[in-house]
Amino acid sequence: MVRRLLVILLQALTGLLVILALWIVSHLAGDRPPPGPVVCAANGTSGCTLTNIYGSFSDRAICRAANVTYPRTEVELVAAVAAAVAAGRKVKVATRYSNSFPRLACPGGEDGTVISTRWLDRAVRVDAARRLMTVESGMVMRDLIREAAAAGLALPHSPYWSGLTIGGVLATGAHGSSLWGKGSAVHEYVVGMRIVTPAPASEGFAAVRELAAGDPDLDAAKVSLGVLGAISQVTLALQPLFKRSVAFVTRNDSDVADTVAAWGRLHEFGDVAWLPRRRVAVYRVDDRVDVATPGDGRSDYPAFRPTPTIPLVASRLAEEWLEERSGSDAARCAASRVMPATLEHLNYGLTNDGEAFTGYPVVGYQHRIQASSSCTGAMEDDGLIPTSTCLWNGRLRGHLFYNSGFSIALSRARAFVADVARLRDLNPAAFCQIDSKMGLLMRYVAASSAYLGKAEDSVDFDVTYYRSYARGAPRAHADVFDEVEQMALRKHGGVPHWGKNRNYAFDGAIARYPNAGEFMRVKDRFDPDGVFSSEWSDQVLGVGGASPVIVGDGCAMEGLCVCSDDSHCAPEKGYFCRPGKVFTAARVCSPSPRDAANGGDDDDEISDVGDE
Ligand SMILES: Cc1cc2nc3c(=O)[nH]c(=O)nc-3n(C[C@H](O)[C@H](O)[C@H](O)COP(=O)(O)OP(=O)(O)OC[C@H]3O[C@@H](n4cnc5c(N)ncnc54)[C@H](O)[C@@H]3O)c2cc1C
Ligand SMILES: *[C@@H]1O[C@H](CO)[C@@H](O)[C@H](O)[C@H]1NC(C)=O
Ligand SMILES: *[C@@H]1O[C@H](CO)[C@@H](O)[C@H](O)[C@H]1NC(C)=O
Ligand SMILES: *[C@@H]1O[C@H](CO)[C@@H](O)[C@H](O)[C@H]1NC(C)=O
Repeated sequence: MVRRLLVILLQALTGLLVILALWIVSHLAGDRPPPGPVVCAANGTSGCTLTNIYGSFSDRAICRAANVTYPRTEVELVAAVAAAVAAGRKVKVATRYSNSFPRLACPGGEDGTVISTRWLDRAVRVDAARRLMTVESGMVMRDLIREAAAAGLALPHSPYWSGLTIGGVLATGAHGSSLWGKGSAVHEYVVGMRIVTPAPASEGFAAVRELAAGDPDLDAAKVSLGVLGAISQVTLALQPLFKRSVAFVTRNDSDVADTVAAWGRLHEFGDVAWLPRRRVAVYRVDDRVDVATPGDGRSDYPAFRPTPTIPLVASRLAEEWLEERSGSDAARCAASRVMPATLEHLNYGLTNDGEAFTGYPVVGYQHRIQASSSCTGAMEDDGLIPTSTCLWNGRLRGHLFYNSGFSIALSRARAFVADVARLRDLNPAAFCQIDSKMGLLMRYVAASSAYLGKAEDSVDFDVTYYRSYARGAPRAHADVFDEVEQMALRKHGGVPHWGKNRNYAFDGAIARYPNAGEFMRVKDRFDPDGVFSSEWSDQVLGVGGASPVIVGDGCAMEGLCVCSDDSHCAPEKGYFCRPGKVFTAARVCSPSPRDAANGGDDDDEISDVGDE
């Protein structure tokens, strides 16, 4: 009895302490980003700021706008565009959660207009017989997938995270994983679109353009970076709802370079997560099966579930300590095992019936397996500290990270993977951070007719890694991550994902799109005055020779540039501009030998690798 009381008291005390700690952390952190992507001054009409879900764009710039509107119908959307055009303002469309890392959604200048698709979030029409679904552009993928399924239809591919809007997914060329049929990019399934573009005063300053299947302008509008106009509605060609069968197989990585290209042809929804430090690759064996196959499996990816706020903030603080302060490789590598082990233990979020995991393969309907986003319900907080949230919620000082995503032609994927393996062999401990975020995810994207889609069948590599809240802060082994990125982009011809990455990754990328010229011609026709263009879009599209690279002291520490001088790193902190170790044309910020000697390797410590 006394024991129980003591336990309860202790728990209450710990609870209070944690709440106190949380309060201190959230207040000491200074300017907390506002709730929701767009926040305006209390007087409602001016002084708005736009941010993304992490509370920080890749370049840490603050995005200002004069005005935000929330149209609820296409008529209101046209009126919003017309008003902005008449007023000579720049415009950008913002979405419900704003998931992109770069400053894509920021209007040009500081007095632009933001048009939010928050309330353009409904299905307009479902034609089950013809398998067509028309939706408003702000519809969240989660809702789109659910409503299609209710009509017996399936979107065959989608990003794995469904807290995105169809408008944002199309603008950035987002995808799942497949080389079969038309491949995994959502824009491959677009057969119609209504887009609001600027128009002359005589036509009321804005007009709706209707693009049908076969219209070459649709090849521009399907992946548009948001620069052609405001997409009002999208029509998708769907398939009869089907089932798929999923299993994960972990193997040693001795042949991963050889298998990466072939795996995409073997399985319709195959992918590979490579953990270079652990020397294993987790293969997704995932194929369509007959709908009569028994099973009601589901996917609720653990990292996309609501995470209790207190452990979340605490785990971020622990990681900051390891990455920026006194972590040794041994400590970092020990910590890096937690996430992959947890994911494996939770069977990557799969259950055979929505409740329990009883074994592979997991068979279930497409809409319950293709994507998940159960944490989004906890994102729209009301100013109070929520008890649980998405891992990366910047408003709560959650896990801030970089996400680099680049596609490499299938024919060059092997050479790239072999290069990364060579770099790993030189310094295995440097890859613990990548392992801790579930490694290098390799997915397949097919060649596209979209002008800003993939020019050839490709492997998309996705890496998530630690980012500091402090500008220019040294991060453990940042030189190795930078070399991996430069190898992909500069040695193997990779192209960056439009919705991910840091500034320098986009330098010159547009030249790798053979149809970029076609795209620019459509842009000049739809929006001759560049109302929907911004500094950022001009830079990534190379308009007038603009570049997203920002050269200056410490620029390479933030991915704003590739260093060419020590001042681009942090010489005062012991970081100097040095060649890469495998790709010697790379230029990365490396710690001086004195710092590099800190914290030894952990090679002997992790020996639990190999088949399991
Ligand atoms: C946890 C997580 C997981 C992810 N997983 C994947 C994945 O599996 N595969 C993948 O490819 N990507 C993935 N991404 C990246 C993601 O696909 C992109 O960031 C996505 O495009 C953002 O969608 P959004 O709706 O948040 O759009 P935003 O980021 O808000 O906007 C992106 C761009 O689209 C424009 N835009 C949006 N709507 C319209 C419209 N109606 N008209 C005109 N322009 C418009 C905006 O102006 C902006 O320029 C992931 C991101 C996160 C955070
Ligand atoms: C509203 O507030 C902003 C910022 O506080 C200020 O710049 C602007 O002038 C105000 N506008 C009106 C109409 O009061
Ligand atoms: C904000 O934009 C809307 C539509 O674009 C316009 O009607 C309104 O006058 C604008 N408000 C201000 C203060 O500019
Ligand atoms: C990796 O696995 C293969 C079989 O899949 C085996 O032949 C090989 O010896 C293993 N390599 C290591 C280093 O364990």
